Amino acid sequence: MIEVVVVDQERAVEVLGVIQDAFGNRPVLDPPATALEETESSIAKALADYGGLLALDGVHPVGALLFSDLEDWLGLRRVGVVAAAQGKGVATKLAMTAEAVGQARGHVGLQLQARVELPKTQEFWQRQGYVEASLVGPQITMRKLLPVTLELPTAELTKRWGLELAAELEPGDLVILTGDLGAGKTTFTQGLGEGLGVRGAVTSPTFVIARVHPSLGAGPALVHVDAYRLGGAAELDDLDLDTDLDQAVTVVEWGEGLAEALAEDRIEIDLHRRDDDVRVATITRIGRRWVKP
Ligand SMILES: Nc1ncnc2c1ncn2[C@@H]1O[C@H](COP(=O)(O)OP(=O)(O)O)[C@@H](O)[C@H]1O
Ligand SMILES: [Mg+2]
Repeated sequence: MIEVVVVDQERAVEVLGVIQDAFGNRPVLDPPATALEETESSIAKALADYGGLLALDGVHPVGALLFSDLEDWLGLRRVGVVAAAQGKGVATKLAMTAEAVGQARGHVGLQLQARVELPKTQEFWQRQGYVEASLVGPQITMRKLLPVTLELPTAELTKRWGLELAAELEPGDLVILTGDLGAGKTTFTQGLGEGLGVRGAVTSPTFVIARVHPSLGAGPALVHVDAYRLGGAAELDDLDLDTDLDQAVTVVEWGEGLAEALAEDRIEIDLHRRDDDVRVATITRIGRRWVKP
């Protein structure tokens, strides 16, 4: 059983031991990674400043990382797993715990540096949902935004939230809505249409699979798709909408599992109707579009 705990400077010796083992077994890079220059006092200082994580197999330290405070973002540094514990899912557990810490401390997301020479490291973080935000020399900055949760007590507030979100959207953007019947997907889209300033009433596209609402001004059109009765992603792709999706904002209701293939950059919104009728929205922004520095 691997257990991951949040640690402070009291555990500096164990964290240092993990870093020396993990980084001592990596290929030498040019310029070299500076992890092996860490000392007990440099680690203790980092842990005192913003803490870190220690993964334990029983009482044995097998993985560690240091946090750093990058204001909006929670930085992850010196992420390492000892050679003897490779392949046991230690790094994945560290990454999951780091996300929980990021949420709890109110960061918008997590950030780390990966070296271009270590594609396996990059692939690992990509599997965890991180994307490349920038590349400077041999350093890739990778980021993952955390989901945002919102409580929407009334239909009016759901609409207003859609209206506000419209300001964030550009031509080519895709919003995927999931949630049971009556969860508020169409209500949200009505607000979005209002915010975009498009023509025509946004209604449940019950008898049509998709409806195009042209802009009343110079902005993008709204393409409103109901994927409920759609056979699959291929069919969605084949919809002859007579509109260039690159020039429109596309909203797909019931799109989960169908619409992801349409765009690497997208906003996924899950609407859930609570027993007290409040809608709880979980918003996940996926792709490079949202994490550029
Ligand atoms: N907080 C809320 N957010 C959204 N809709 C709400 C809320 N409270 C009540 N409603 C009502 O619930 C219904 C939601 O319907 P709709 O938006 O068409 O859902 P969906 O498209 O997900 O099936 C509407 O009649 C709306 O007035
Ligand atoms: Mg609907």
